[in-house]
Amino acid sequence: MTLYQRDRSWHPPALTPDYKTSVARSPRLPLLSLEGTVSELTGPRFGHGDIAPGDADLIANHAKDGDPIGERIIVHGRVLDENRRPVPQTLIEIWQANAGGRYRHRKDGYLAPIDPNFGGCGRVLTDDQGHYAFRTVKPGAYPWRNGVNSWRPAHIHLSVFGHAFAQRLITQMYFEGDTLIARCPIVNAIPDPRAIAALIAPLDLNQAVPLDCLVYRFDIVLRGRRSTVFENRPEGN
Ligand SMILES: [Fe+2]
Repeated sequence: MTLYQRDRSWHPPALTPDYKTSVARSPRLPLLSLEGTVSELTGPRFGHGDIAPGDADLIANHAKDGDPIGERIIVHGRVLDENRRPVPQTLIEIWQANAGGRYRHRKDGYLAPIDPNFGGCGRVLTDDQGHYAFRTVKPGAYPWRNGVNSWRPAHIHLSVFGHAFAQRLITQMYFEGDTLIARCPIVNAIPDPRAIAALIAPLDLNQAVPLDCLVYRFDIVLRGRRSTVFENRPEGN
């Protein structure tokens, strides 16, 4: 298996004290490179039958008595490798807060209410050209315990699988024009402004659905000099 050195001028260092939990989470000892085991590399994968067509529609997939509250949006883009070749039939999982900035999770005690019609989770497979799209409502910003007034900019969490379950990568996308992005300690852990820019989805007004949805475009690049910044990339990969 070919190992790729992580580019520390592009990916954030593990220890970034302004992002306070990174202090306790970051390793204190030199890292070891571990070979992937046979079970990690050849274990079971998801199949097409595991994905239902409605899984990519977060407006509808948890609705009980109407649509969720919030700005209706579509997020679309492509998953590409380091040579900008499309990555077909790969699973993208999505999770996000509702329009008020509240996750449907028992550990989220933020003041904003749960939306009974919004679950905040979805998944989609890329097509043969590596393209994906999902429909949702724009998540709200939310405060978190870091500095006195630390707020996460509106964001959607995305996970991408490769050829095995062990090859799972996780990132976040942000929205063009959000003034909280530049103030976010998590975003600012990324050293290169071009890497931050690659996490900000531009408005794609040409693709918008008139009188229905705005559209944002987010391409995910899996590897190489201009890869999307992933939060959990194993060292050496
Ligand atoms: Fe989040």
